[in-house]
Amino acid sequence: MGFGVLRQNMFVLLLLLLSSWVCSVTSSVSYDNKAIIVNGQRRILMSGSIHYPRSTPEMWPDLIQKAKDGGLDVIQTYVFWNGHEPSPGKYYFEDRYDLVRFIKLVQQAGLLFHLRIGPYVCAEWNYGGFPVWLKYVPGIEFRTDNEPFKAAMQKFTEKIVSMMKAEKLFQTQGGPIILSQIENEFGPVEWEIGAPGKAYTKWAAEMAIGLNTGVPWVMCKQDDAPDPVINTWNGFYSEFFKPNSNKKPKMWTENWTGWFTEFGGAVPQRPAEDLAFSVVRFIQIGGSFVNYYMYHGGTNFGRTAGGPFIATSYDYDAPIDEFGLIREPKWGHLRDLHKAIKLCEPALVSADPTVSSLGNNQEAHVFRSSSGCAAFLANYDTSSSTKVTFGNQQYDLPPWSISILPDCKTAVYNTARLGAQSSQKKMIPVGSAFSWQSFNEETASSEDDNTFSNNGLWEQVNVTGDASDYLWYMTDVNIASNEGFLKNGQDPLLTIWSAGHALQVFINGQLAGTVYGQLDNPKLTFSNNVKLRVGVNKISLLSIAVGLPNVGTHFEKWNAGVLGPVTLKGLDEGTRDLSKQKWSYKIGLKGEALSLHTVSGSSSVEWVQGSLMPKKQPMTWYKTIFSAPGGNDPLALDMSTMGKGLVWINGQSIGRHWPGYIARGNCGACNYAGTYSDKKCKTNCGEPSQRWYHVPRSWLNPSGNLLVVFEEWGGDPTGISLVKRTTGSVCADIFEGQPTLKNWRMISSGNANRLQPKAHLWCPPGQKISQIKFASYGLPQGTCGSFREGSCHAHKSYDAFQRNCVGKESCSVAVASEVFGGDPCPDSSKKLSVEAVCS
Ligand code: GAL
Repeated sequence: MGFGVLRQNMFVLLLLLLSSWVCSVTSSVSYDNKAIIVNGQRRILMSGSIHYPRSTPEMWPDLIQKAKDGGLDVIQTYVFWNGHEPSPGKYYFEDRYDLVRFIKLVQQAGLLFHLRIGPYVCAEWNYGGFPVWLKYVPGIEFRTDNEPFKAAMQKFTEKIVSMMKAEKLFQTQGGPIILSQIENEFGPVEWEIGAPGKAYTKWAAEMAIGLNTGVPWVMCKQDDAPDPVINTWNGFYSEFFKPNSNKKPKMWTENWTGWFTEFGGAVPQRPAEDLAFSVVRFIQIGGSFVNYYMYHGGTNFGRTAGGPFIATSYDYDAPIDEFGLIREPKWGHLRDLHKAIKLCEPALVSADPTVSSLGNNQEAHVFRSSSGCAAFLANYDTSSSTKVTFGNQQYDLPPWSISILPDCKTAVYNTARLGAQSSQKKMIPVGSAFSWQSFNEETASSEDDNTFSNNGLWEQVNVTGDASDYLWYMTDVNIASNEGFLKNGQDPLLTIWSAGHALQVFINGQLAGTVYGQLDNPKLTFSNNVKLRVGVNKISLLSIAVGLPNVGTHFEKWNAGVLGPVTLKGLDEGTRDLSKQKWSYKIGLKGEALSLHTVSGSSSVEWVQGSLMPKKQPMTWYKTIFSAPGGNDPLALDMSTMGKGLVWINGQSIGRHWPGYIARGNCGACNYAGTYSDKKCKTNCGEPSQRWYHVPRSWLNPSGNLLVVFEEWGGDPTGISLVKRTTGSVCADIFEGQPTLKNWRMISSGNANRLQPKAHLWCPPGQKISQIKFASYGLPQGTCGSFREGSCHAHKSYDAFQRNCVGKESCSVAVASEVFGGDPCPDSSKKLSVEAVCS
């Protein structure tokens, strides 16, 4: 070998070495006590949960783009085992369950990914994500040191990890996945079950690590997560969270942006100001990863809602609403927050905070290093605003708020001051009225096909395998002709104890009553005097499951259905116990067996229409054909005149409807200041918990769409309408002199003058500002949609908006006295409230 060749080889070797070194630098994820380190760089990462099966693949690109525009770096999702493995070994990864497609869309958008494999996910998802068949694996016990369970969990986890590897989706392979998660909030369960729980935690961590994904694993709410797994926090606030080692970063896997809705419950809302406040409280103690749970909540299509009693809407008051529209002011307020945090990133990742007091209830957190200085000025007081001195300057801090100073001087953002507009959405009827046909779902009887019998009462899910919400329990009751009640008119009392979730009682084919439970107590009792005749009486009980439990210790052991006792009181013999006698069972409805929700199934029976159609009849199927309305606005069905049941469009289930379940409680006013909980700031009290049901645009054809409704209670289908969701009006609520991100741009471009904040208004594409409904510079009161003038009002408040905004898609007006015809009350600090109509 000549010297030249040797030199050449050496050179090639060097190149190879160098490139492998570069490779390992360019694609690696690790962490230290400050942050996740992606490609050698510590990052402050803002993340958001979007659960892929809760929207349609057609919606995904837009949702991801809106997340990116909202300033997110990472998309997070659970993996939904029961969607992917509907029967053992039979996998499904198509359509809404096309996980790889979802992750690749995130990658194409240039965002990172957090894959929470679970495979237990909680998530208000049916059975917490477990396939129901898992319950019947011999010897199984969920989420503990149990061999059959561990084997099944490992098999599914391996399946997902190997799929991700095959598609090169882990960051070390050039993909977007920088983190994974094993289990979900197992800590509290471990605490309850003790030693086997501890062993299971250790096993789960080791199993996950053994899969060599090349990226870190997290376990959320798991204080004893074994190294190198990172333990993370879930909750409304996270300012006291510390990981279990000083080598791990502070990560918040679930900052709840709102809360889920249950049928029968009011609809929760979390104010944007409090959400932003919670994020900054975490960032100012050195938190470096915040995930919004949910960023887009979406819809529990079909029978995917967990429970029991989780509503079909999983809107969650998230920054992107159920229908895929940005929710203002939450989305915009967080976008501005993310910009402000990013300005602080160099200081945040390189320094530890020093904390100093600025008053009784006020603090400064300062990050200072050679890479820069960032400060956070906090006022924890829930009612008073205050002026604090920091450096040589004074800063106004509203109650329950933090100001962000990316250079330790200029406030560019305050969590309680919205720069973003808010908006009011409208649901507007579209298309013509539906013309319905009906089909009666007859009360089942023990003589029907596909019934089977047993002496005694069976648990519901053991019988149905969750193939349907519905299970018929049928029995006969013989009444002798000499029974006393036949003469004295005292009807006997039928009492039925059920483990839930809802029950319709039929005596000789007639509805005798409807009962149902609620989320915190799914059990129910029916107790009514019933009409019985001489001879055989047919008692048919339709027991209805409303989503299987998704949370708790041993939630897999929860029961549903009529477990008894079932008694008849007031007979000559006293009380007759029906529990142990012969019962017949039938799984599902006749209409389900006939697939009435599909085009072919629905043409197999005779439907009734026009004046022959019964009115408000319980247990009825309805169908109609309709055309899709034009445009791109999201669509929904207004089901307010219906009771309870299921809805399908072109054979796809849009979920359970239950507008007949009215939201309990008192809603009252909502103040952003003060600790938030899911009991605070509720809406919809006294109204249906859910009135509108999302109809994905992509499920519709231009015409000939089949809509099928099964109604249990006897609602009136003529009141159902198709509606579109649009913006009614937009508002801005701006305080004079409030921090704005524009200040930063001015200062960094050498202009030291503070800018006046501006009110920005914009209507969505296709709409324009048609009218100024309200404008007041001074001391206006109220919130968007219900503003009113206060004790001080500039008489030219409307003029600037009339001039600059009407007829336009967007406009901005500076919030300064001179714009509104002079200062209406020089001694007060003023604000501007404006509401503009979009048409
Ligand atoms: C968490 C859980 C999530 C979800 C959330 C409530 O505790 O980890 O999966 O259930 O509560 O929406």
